[in-house]
Amino acid sequence: MAKVLALVVAVFAALGLAYYNLFLPRQQPAANIKVEITPERVERGRYLVINVLQCVDCHSERDWGLYGGPPQEPVGAGRACLTRDTEAAGVNVGQENFPGVLCIRNITPDNDTGLGRWTDGEIIRAVREGVDHQGKGLFPIMPYFVFAKVADADMAAVVAYLRSMQPVRSAQTPQRQVDFPLNMLIQLWPKPVKGPVVAPEPSDRIAYGRYLATIARCEFCHTPRPMNSMEGFPGREYAGGMPFFLTSERIMYTMNLTPHESGLGNWTREQFIQLFRDRAVPRPVSLKENTLMNWSAFAGMTDEDLGALFDFFRSLPPVPYQQEPI
Ligand code: HEC
Ligand code: HEC
Repeated sequence: MAKVLALVVAVFAALGLAYYNLFLPRQQPAANIKVEITPERVERGRYLVINVLQCVDCHSERDWGLYGGPPQEPVGAGRACLTRDTEAAGVNVGQENFPGVLCIRNITPDNDTGLGRWTDGEIIRAVREGVDHQGKGLFPIMPYFVFAKVADADMAAVVAYLRSMQPVRSAQTPQRQVDFPLNMLIQLWPKPVKGPVVAPEPSDRIAYGRYLATIARCEFCHTPRPMNSMEGFPGREYAGGMPFFLTSERIMYTMNLTPHESGLGNWTREQFIQLFRDRAVPRPVSLKENTLMNWSAFAGMTDEDLGALFDFFRSLPPVPYQQEPI
């Protein structure tokens, strides 16, 4: 009996492994498209990459001597790998003691070290579906599960801008290496985007504000959720109180963005926009006083877009602020 059971278990294990190897990560072929480069697309793409989606915040070294840690030149050329050794990696933005080696690569169009040889479809698939040009699942620090909501037209603009960047040759970085079982688990995350993704009309301010708050990841950072989970607590969307670590000594909590009095309840639209404008030029600060939110990048958002964000936040149900335990 025990032998039969062992056999059954072995067969299931083998089937499971075969499923894993054959079907994960879930993926569809990269779309066969060529984005037409127009000045309007490049301009829209620059705005999205730098001010809204903040691709360059993660894909560049940052200057933590300035408030918000603006990206350093060469912008987009990648940054030091996350490793087990936190000292060596310097400030690695809340990802201390990474279980392996993870390199955030060059997204400039360099042929050998950047995206020069990727097709447009491969770039779009990596950003929205979390699958690289070789069909491998990306680690979900890359927020593809959020970018899945970026509209097709905006994605084309992102590609147009990335193609227009100055190619920068960066150092060759090591292959990703992640400890078991996380290396298996991350292959479960990627998911194909099916059908057209369309943004709401900017004139529909609340719907457009929601779109911006999602793709600019205000939602991701300002919605409390259990540690190590991607799902927020139901009924507490945008209520803040999530702890963030810049270093082990610098812990900060996100603001409540709902219209409760502990959040944006007593704010005017003008005050909200002004807060961003005041931080457009980042002031020098020590690491202990710094923040993970790149204010100077968001400060480049237009009055219409910041205003739509405010209108959307004010349309939410008011939820009291509560700090999540660390
Ligand atoms: C919060 C940080 C973060 C943001 C924001 C971010 N990325 Fe990434 N990105 C990563 C990480 C981490 C990886 C590496 C994942 C891996 O190797 O498994 C990555 C990987 C990639 C890759 C695959 C590169 C390769 O050589 O395999 C591409 C392409 C990419 N990002 C483009 C973008 C673009 C375009 C944006 C903006 C729309 C963006 N990223 C925003 C963190 C980020
Ligand atoms: C990477 C995570 C992250 C993202 C993305 C993010 N925030 Fe924040 N936010 C924080 C943290 C951490 C704080 C607390 C520290 C601070 O004030 O900078 C904060 C604070 C704030 C504050 C209060 C600032 C003050 O001085 O009173 C506002 C307002 C705010 N965020 C709005 C937004 C909006 C709007 C978006 C989207 C456009 C956004 N945040 C995106 C992490 C984030």
